[in-house]
Amino acid sequence: MSPAIASSPGYVELFTLRGGPYDAAMRTWPLAREPEFAQAIARAALAPGMVVADVPAGGGYLQSFLPPGVRWIGFEPSRGFTSTAGGHGIPEGSPLVPLPWQAGEADAAISLAGIHHLADKAPLFQDLLRVVKPGGRLVVSDVAEGSAVAGFLDGYVGSHNSTGHEGDYLSADTVATLRHAGWHIASSELVPFHWVFASRDDMAAFCHRLFDLRTSTLADTRRAIESGLGVDELPGGRIGMRWELMTIACERPA
Ligand SMILES: C[S@@+](CC[C@H](N)C(=O)[O-])C[C@H]1O[C@@H](n2cnc3c(N)ncnc32)[C@H](O)[C@@H]1O
Repeated sequence: MSPAIASSPGYVELFTLRGGPYDAAMRTWPLAREPEFAQAIARAALAPGMVVADVPAGGGYLQSFLPPGVRWIGFEPSRGFTSTAGGHGIPEGSPLVPLPWQAGEADAAISLAGIHHLADKAPLFQDLLRVVKPGGRLVVSDVAEGSAVAGFLDGYVGSHNSTGHEGDYLSADTVATLRHAGWHIASSELVPFHWVFASRDDMAAFCHRLFDLRTSTLADTRRAIESGLGVDELPGGRIGMRWELMTIACERPA
């Protein structure tokens, strides 16, 4: 069993503060990030009867996008996400690793937008290798180093939210760390997509809550998104906020 890896200092405070508003944004606009979940799920090679582990799960949003017949198991170490945290009777601020699952309990695992606050990602990758069955897949999808999204998070968001923001983003080093942990790399790509809204006002309001912005206005946020990320008019009059993640699909050798 991997040694306990405490969540990075500050992480617990960060998501204890931000988990609530994040969860509220996701519950108010549950379909806004659908393309983000879909791109990760598409690379996990899921089939009915499979068990997929979701970590860190936040409020467990991945569940509602999974194909029929796939069973979700999720782990969220922070109590900021009231809807799922503690589901395993795990005290607040519990270590992210060891994960609360048996060896080979999952057919696949997805880690979405959750490890850019984790400086040392190796223990998590190693413990996911224990949890996923031989031949199973892991999809790691998070913000890429040097991307416009990284600039937006560490720049505008970090200047106006409740906690500041400084990410340990994904890069070629992450691929090397996964390989070193024992994973076979099937693909590694930058995947562009949109967060989708009915209006630019909804887009700004969603981001205000998701990132717990405190010292700027909705109009400021709308301008920052339009200039820093880009916004497109989508079919049906919808609005697409450009977002992009580095998505790495791996296989546990059989
Ligand atoms: C942006 S949320 C993503 C949640 C969910 N996967 C989603 O896609 O909405 C970030 C998640 O990472 C977790 N997290 C961030 N930093 C962490 C750390 N250092 N250790 C453990 N968990 C961390 C938070 O608790 C939260 O669940």
